[in-house]
Amino acid sequence: MPEKILSNRPQNQGILVLDFGSQYTLLIARRLREVGAYSEVIDGRVTAPPVGLTVRGIILSGGPDSVYEEGSRSLPEWAMKLNVPVLGICYGMQLLVERAGGKVRAATKREYGRATMNVVPTTGPASVLFEEGSTTQTVWMSHGDDIGTIPQGYQIAAETDGHVLAALVHVHLPIAALQYHPEVAHSEKGADLLRRFAKNLCGMTLDWDGQARVDSLCHHIKETVGSGHVLVACSGGVDSTVTAALLMRALGPEKVTAVFCDTGLLRKNEVPWVSEKLKVLGLQHMELLSSGDLFFRELKGVTDPEQKRKIIGRLFIEEFETYAKKHKEFTHLGQGTLYPDVIESAGHGAGAKVIKSHHNVGGLPDRLALKLVEPFRWLFKDEVRAVGLQLGLPEELIQRHPFPGPGLAVRILGEVTVDRVKMLQEADDIFISALHEKQLYHVPWQAFAVLLPIKSVGVMGDNRTYQQTIALRAVTSSDGMTAGVADLPLSFLTLVSDRIIRRVSGINRVVFDITTKPPATIEWE
Ligand code: XMP
Repeated sequence: MPEKILSNRPQNQGILVLDFGSQYTLLIARRLREVGAYSEVIDGRVTAPPVGLTVRGIILSGGPDSVYEEGSRSLPEWAMKLNVPVLGICYGMQLLVERAGGKVRAATKREYGRATMNVVPTTGPASVLFEEGSTTQTVWMSHGDDIGTIPQGYQIAAETDGHVLAALVHVHLPIAALQYHPEVAHSEKGADLLRRFAKNLCGMTLDWDGQARVDSLCHHIKETVGSGHVLVACSGGVDSTVTAALLMRALGPEKVTAVFCDTGLLRKNEVPWVSEKLKVLGLQHMELLSSGDLFFRELKGVTDPEQKRKIIGRLFIEEFETYAKKHKEFTHLGQGTLYPDVIESAGHGAGAKVIKSHHNVGGLPDRLALKLVEPFRWLFKDEVRAVGLQLGLPEELIQRHPFPGPGLAVRILGEVTVDRVKMLQEADDIFISALHEKQLYHVPWQAFAVLLPIKSVGVMGDNRTYQQTIALRAVTSSDGMTAGVADLPLSFLTLVSDRIIRRVSGINRVVFDITTKPPATIEWE
């Protein structure tokens, strides 16, 4: 692998989240950072804490295992020996209970979704996690096991309306255990509990803020790139654009070249729009790679979603590599890699199943003779957005809906062809333009159109039609890890449907996707 640089962490103390395979683990760290407490995630199976981080508290994540089953992940003793406050969540709770001699059993009924929780007064140090006098709150449950016998030394801190044990605190140690998920937005006072854990129990100063981030990132960039020249792979997305802006802030515009790869799979008018925005940033060197033909050629006949993702990821890297080899002045390659990508792809994940292979990380081949600059490898997306605003980038760019690396290819079910991309670009543009026109763009966190591989019968004028279907997807979310359905007015959806059918030839039906994540994912592939 090329030498990884900028791996210097931005703070040297924080809360360590031990990952036991929950889909929500990253959310725990994000929520902590949102309340100002720097945090990192590591695999729950590692045998020592990370070098260079002073651990102020430990959180044990949830996970798919059952503690009583053979081969299940266990609680590492080193974590308990650090003698710092510990919070166990779901599976993390069960690990603590089992360790203390309590009993975990298969729940008679799997609990999933919202529950009402009643807090009862407790006395141990961890009782500071619950606001005094606040008795009832909504929490998010997702578990198949529960606690059969409470271990000695622990007392009940909360139960649900259905008398399911929801929280335990230790009588005299700074340890607490929750059956529910405070990191999930549906848990009403979840962020407050995590803030109390960091501040009141771990004694942290909540100083992880915007200016601190920009200063520390610029310092590391200058230190590691020196007088080098950086090539930035731009996709038009928030991450790569903010990467380019930050590198320019740290090194000066003459030391940064943005290369934009037009895969042919982008949204309508994306290339001129992004080029314009990059120029406004003061960028002096910009290159456009027109790679559409190559991508369509390689995607011909491919219908499998994972295969599409792999092909696109490979081509994307090869295109940059070819460019970089022709231009010898570059010393570094800048990428907008984010912390969640690093955790998931660098083997830190504790075996949470791969749902989709994200293409924008980790594929850089050894032979690329450039060092990597990834200023955001310790940051979450919302932190990157905050950096972008801090650097003076326009809101319309920073607050754009996310767009996946593989582009429209994962929104075209079945084969990706030039005609099908055009059809989808038109339908998507009609949907997004209507959201802007009716001032609804920020109601969903992300919205887009999907082209389905099915035909159905319709009637247009006096004629029978047999044409394709567009699905509209509009979700609410805070990070894409979970999602709800955006509440768009039916009158608006029918207006969009009407416009699509009138203007996009080949479409005679429009449907609205009303599935949350989980169980669905946001993208259809
Ligand atoms: P899913 O479909 O996994 O999407 O629920 C969650 C969020 O991630 C985006 N997404 C991607 N972003 N490269 C990216 O940069 C990818 O390969 C990729 N796949 C999905 C998706 O648009 C949503 O915001």
